[in-house]
Amino acid sequence: MEQEIQTGASAGRRLLDARRVCALALAAVFAGLGQSALAADPLQGRKIYQTHCENCHGANGAGQIPGAPDFMRSDTLMRPDIELMRTLKSGRGMMPAYQGMFTETELLDVIAYLRTLRLQR
Ligand code: HEC
Repeated sequence: MEQEIQTGASAGRRLLDARRVCALALAAVFAGLGQSALAADPLQGRKIYQTHCENCHGANGAGQIPGAPDFMRSDTLMRPDIELMRTLKSGRGMMPAYQGMFTETELLDVIAYLRTLRLQR
């Protein structure tokens, strides 16, 4: 009987340990998200967008010229920041290359702003 209780207790402890590990892992993930959200500044990005991107992409991101993707609808933004940044650096089609014109921080800011356009749908 006593043996049984001990086994039950240690199984319970193992379960608690597992839960604690999960909680730590989740906390780490959220900390990471928080950090990237803080690192990119969409308000700063909006200024860049209004000055340098709006002519072609439109105030709401729906696209102002033929061939420009609709940021409010298309899957264009369903890609990691780092990939979008690479495209912005090298340019694409009618879009000029922004390598050397903006820092990576500025590019990430403007990408963060693009992502808010999608939410405004
Ligand atoms: C001269 C017009 C023009 C300007 C200025 C411009 N774009 Fe574009 N952009 C385009 C066009 C056209 C495309 C579609 C290119 C293609 O797929 O051929 C595009 C595509 C994109 C894409 C999608 C790229 C991909 O890989 O699918 C992003 C993101 C983007 N633009 C962001 C920006 C940002 C941010 C700025 C300002 C810093 C900007 N654009 C300025 C015309 C422009």
